Parts: sequence; structure tokens; C-alpha cells
Amino acid sequence: MAAYMFNFVIYGILIFILVMLVWMTYHFRTLTNDSNAADSGTDANKNRLLGSHNFIYAAIVLVIITILVFTYLVVKGTPMEGHVMEWLNIVIRVMHIIFGIAWIGASFYFVFLENALNRSENVRDELAGNLWAIHGGGFYYLEKYKTAPKSIPKHLHWFKYEAYFTWISGFSLLFIVYYFNAKGFLIDTNVFDMSPLAAITTGIGSFVVAWLLYDILCKTPLIKKGIWFTIVGVIVLTGFAWFYSYVFSARAAYIHFGAMLGSIMVANVFFVIIPSQKAMVKAAREGKPLNPELGKDSGLRSLHNNYLTLPVIFTMVSNHFPSTFGHQYQWIILAAISIASAGIKHWLNLREQGRYSVWVMPVSVLILLATAYVTAPSKPGECKTSISFTQVNAIVQSRCISCHSSKPTDDVTTTPPNGVTYDTPENIVKLKDKIMQRVVLTKTMPQNNKTNMTLEERELIRCWIEQGGSLK
Ligand code: HEC
Repeated sequence: MAAYMFNFVIYGILIFILVMLVWMTYHFRTLTNDSNAADSGTDANKNRLLGSHNFIYAAIVLVIITILVFTYLVVKGTPMEGHVMEWLNIVIRVMHIIFGIAWIGASFYFVFLENALNRSENVRDELAGNLWAIHGGGFYYLEKYKTAPKSIPKHLHWFKYEAYFTWISGFSLLFIVYYFNAKGFLIDTNVFDMSPLAAITTGIGSFVVAWLLYDILCKTPLIKKGIWFTIVGVIVLTGFAWFYSYVFSARAAYIHFGAMLGSIMVANVFFVIIPSQKAMVKAAREGKPLNPELGKDSGLRSLHNNYLTLPVIFTMVSNHFPSTFGHQYQWIILAAISIASAGIKHWLNLREQGRYSVWVMPVSVLILLATAYVTAPSKPGECKTSISFTQVNAIVQSRCISCHSSKPTDDVTTTPPNGVTYDTPENIVKLKDKIMQRVVLTKTMPQNNKTNMTLEERELIRCWIEQGGSLK
């Protein structure tokens, strides 16, 4: 009872603070509008207003995170834990996808713009090019300046929060899916036995190391030699794929590879692109000449980001496709698909510039076909005897039910994963295709083989399914 009261009071306080903060944002908005309308506020005043505005938004985010962490602590170990985590997972995953679409959408759009600019016909001297477009309800006309316009406009739109929020939501998701449940999802003792803390530190540390390596690589003379930079980059990234596959469970290895690439992309925005844009704006405002290196460097970094988009998207989605991460040499599959998808992006970029390449697309498609071929199941052995459902049911009951039941007994999995239960014979028959996929072909179930399923048992299940997989 005392614990209930305590939780109740904490929630009350946190929600009160949150409501007050939200109210303050409205209050400040009216203040800012007034000072804009009257145009009486000095610039210093406006800046101060803006500064406190940002401060309040940061405080709101902090309070929300506190509420979430507190909720996690309250439900931890109770029957509600699985349910609460599932909803956190849904909400943050959807946010992550939406921010990601906004970010990558903008990235695609600007690279397209750069590639499609009219640079020759009727272009004013100060311009690099322009573009006419039609979209939604009307016609659009865009101009790109060679350097900066003579006076920097008051309202300049920056593209950065899409990237930051994608990373923050993705990082939260990494905690919700993999780190809170490190024993169940991050660590596979058959791959490498380590404590949750060591595994999480390895994961987060690897992102920092990857960024430092990449950033150093960008500062070497190699950066001027596109092809060599690409080759070294591919080798280093493949090294990471290999490393992850030797320390984490198969799915976690893939997601860490994606998160590592995503972190490099966001760090590019945060540490290079936005600071150099700020320097450009500052120089232009002060009427100083622009350092052309700044624009070049950040242009290159956004081009790198552009090439990383497709590999990242594939890795994020790959968690639903066990034939990729479940392969014996999963890191080679990961490297191959990353190279092929970056190749497709390269082809698209060339095409937008009106340059047609003969070999980029066919080679990329060939690599993808080869991975599909390599990951195909090997020809299984012959099934000599006829397998009865009773035999199969006994295996499922002893190896799967601890997690896949309406009331799981597993210490980590507290709700049936993806809603899959094998409590009734009908359910087992209905889901036999998926069982084939996860238990026989990719051997990604039982999860981390926690229930010690044997190869003979997998063979038995395969034969039962190949013989029709009925209740007989
Ligand atoms: C230790 C817990 C655990 C055990 C034991 C376990 N699973 Fe799973 N299973 C999971 C989790 C967690 C997921 C969801 C994550 C994933 O798809 O990898 C899952 C997902 C699945 C899926 C995919 C469902 C979908 O809709 O995509 C299938 C099929 C499956 N398990 C079958 C089995 C079978 C068959 C067994 C027994 C041979 C088994 N599992 C044993 C935890 C377990």
C-alpha cells in the first residue's frame, strides 16, 4: 500500500511539472508573437525568448524520459512488464520510422535537387542553378546560390532535428528491445558469453570507435581518392559486421551494424555539417569571404550519408528476415547486401545526373541474387520413417512453450513473442511454415537455443512438415 502511495505521489509531481512546462510553451509563444507583431522587441530580447523556449522544450523531453524510466521501474518484475514494454516499443518504433522518413526523405530530395539543377540555361551570375517543379497543389521554383546570398534572410530553414530525433528514438529503441533484455536478445551464450553490462558497453563503445575511425579516415589524403576511400571504408565496415557477429546474438549483430552506420550519419550532421553551415551563415552575415573548404567538406559528408541510407534501411528491416541474419556467415551476407544496396544508390545518383553507367546496376543486382542463392536452405536428408504429431507436440511442449504460451514461464519473455503460442495442436499446425523457417532452415528458434533443442529434433520437425504436417 505504501508503495502504491509513493508511486502515485511521484506520478502526480511529474505530470504536474509536465503540464506546467507545456503551459509555459504556449505562454512564450504568445509573448514571441506579440514582440514580433509590434516589432518593438530588440534582437537581444528575442534571442533570450528563443533561448528560454528551447530550454523548456529540453525540460519537457527530460520529464517525459523520467516518466518512462519511472514507469519501467514500477512495472519491472510484475505481470505488466511485458505489456508496458510492448507499448513503449510500438510508440517509439513508429516515432523512429517517422523521423527517419523525414530525415532520409529530405536527404534524398536535396541530393536529387543537386543532381537535377539546371546549371546552364538562363542562370543568373550569383546562382549555381535552378529547378522548376510541380508537386501537390502547384508550381515551385528553386534557386541554389554559388556561395551565399548577399544578405542572409531572416527566416532560414535548417534541416537537423529530423536527424537528431531519428537517432534519439533509435537509441531508445535499442534499449527497449535489446539492452533492457540483454540476456534474452543481445547476448547469445553460444556465440560469446558476457555480462549484460559488458555487452551493452561493447555495443555503445563500438559506435564511438566507428565514428572516430571514419572521421580520421575523412581527414587523411585518402578522402581525395574516391575509389580508395570507398575500398578502405568497405573493408572497415565489413570488419565491424564480422566483429558484431562474433560478440552478439545474430539479430543484435545486424541491428548494431545498422545503428553504427546510423550513428555515423547523425554524427556527420552534428559534428560537421551543421557547424560548417553555421560558420557559413556567420561569415556571410559579417560580409567575410566564405571558406570554400567548409561547404566542400560538409557536402562530402552528406554524400556519404546518402550512400549509407539504403544499407541502413536494409539492416533495420532485416530483423524480420531470419534467412539473412540466421545464416552461418551472416556478416558476409550483411556486407554483401550493404555493398549492393549502396551500389543501387550510386546508380540512382548517376542517373539523376544524366550519366548512365553500364555495370553498376547489373553488378549490384547480381550480388543480391547471389546472396539470395547462398542463403537458400541446403538440400535436406531423406525422411525414413513417418513422424506422428505426438512426437512433434512433445518436442514443441518441451522446447518452445516456456516462451510461446499465453502464460510464458521464461524469466525474460513474459508475453508470448509476436503473439505466437503453441498451447493447442491446431496452433502448431497452423504455424508450421514459420516453424520450418525458424527452427529448421535458419535455426533462429528457440531463441539463442535457450531450451537446448537438438539437431535430431529439428530433423524430426522438418520430416513431419515435409510429410504434410497434419494432426495425425
Ligand atoms: C526463450 C524464449 C523462446 C523460446 C524457448 C522459443 N521462442 Fe520463438 N520467439 C521468441 C521471441 C522473443 C520471438 C520474437 C523475436 C524473433 O522473431 O526473433 C520469437 C519468435 C518466433 C517466431 C516468429 C513469429 C513471427 O510472427 O514472426 C516463430 C515462428 C517462433 N518463435 C517459433 C518458435 C518455436 C517453434 C520454438 C520451439 C522450438 C520457439 N520459438 C522457442 C522466444 C522464444
